[in-house]
Amino acid sequence: MKISQRLRDALLSARRVVAFTGAGMSAESGVPTFRGHQGIWKKFRPEELASMEAFLRNPALVWEWYAARKKIIREVEPNPGHYALARMESLLPSFTIVTQNIDNLHRRAGSSTIFELHGNIERNYCIDCGAPQEEERPIPSSGTPECNECSGLVRPDVVWFGEMLPEDQWEGAERAIESADVVLSIGTSGVVYPAAGLPVRGKQRGAYTVEINPEPTELSDWMDEVVRESSAAALPALVSALERGRG
Ligand code: APR
Repeated sequence: MKISQRLRDALLSARRVVAFTGAGMSAESGVPTFRGHQGIWKKFRPEELASMEAFLRNPALVWEWYAARKKIIREVEPNPGHYALARMESLLPSFTIVTQNIDNLHRRAGSSTIFELHGNIERNYCIDCGAPQEEERPIPSSGTPECNECSGLVRPDVVWFGEMLPEDQWEGAERAIESADVVLSIGTSGVVYPAAGLPVRGKQRGAYTVEINPEPTELSDWMDEVVRESSAAALPALVSALERGRG
């Protein structure tokens, strides 16, 4: 796969690079995306499952859905795209991942500077006392896990529609994006705000912005360059270009 000279030069001269990732990043690991022809929102309406009122209305149904997604994620592995981003940390002066994904695959691939805007499906917490629920316990016959501390209702530590993003993660992501020389927008449809506003914010601050996605998105027209390839194909090619450029 050919990397443009402009992108090669931008990466080789960059001090700070940010990868902004979405569900497409994990598609080649076998994790379904949300939108598009294979998207999971085709089968379910997000409001029925990924919102606090849906959870309070029917916690067992929401837990059934998250238990199924947790199972998928336990059975998949990071793909070459995740490993390429992990490799970039040692090839660039500063490299940060800002992800919308909750699947923990960036961390499992070895990346360490990650802002998780929408939480992490491997974590849970109690909605009554707030205690994190570390160990993964089997879902009881009631259909909803109880808090180890207060027997309250436990939920997945993911951001649902209508909820605020974790402040520390959002502020860290904003700082990274606003000081970036290059922003890679990878595998995201760019339709869910406030996260989707970050690549444009980077461009407005002078970053060279690149979309890596086989399909056009809401963000395409803002980008300085689009790479119509899958992340598992494009990102290893970017790493090879960086390694060759570093001599
Ligand atoms: N490589 C790169 N991009 C891909 C690949 C791939 N192999 N396969 C699919 N894509 C692209 C699709 O073209 C699409 O543009 O990934 C994008 C996935 O878009 P969405 O399913 O909308 O996922 P995302 O943008 O991450 O959604 C944002 O919406 O439902 C909420 O909280 C959820 O974090 C999620 C947010």
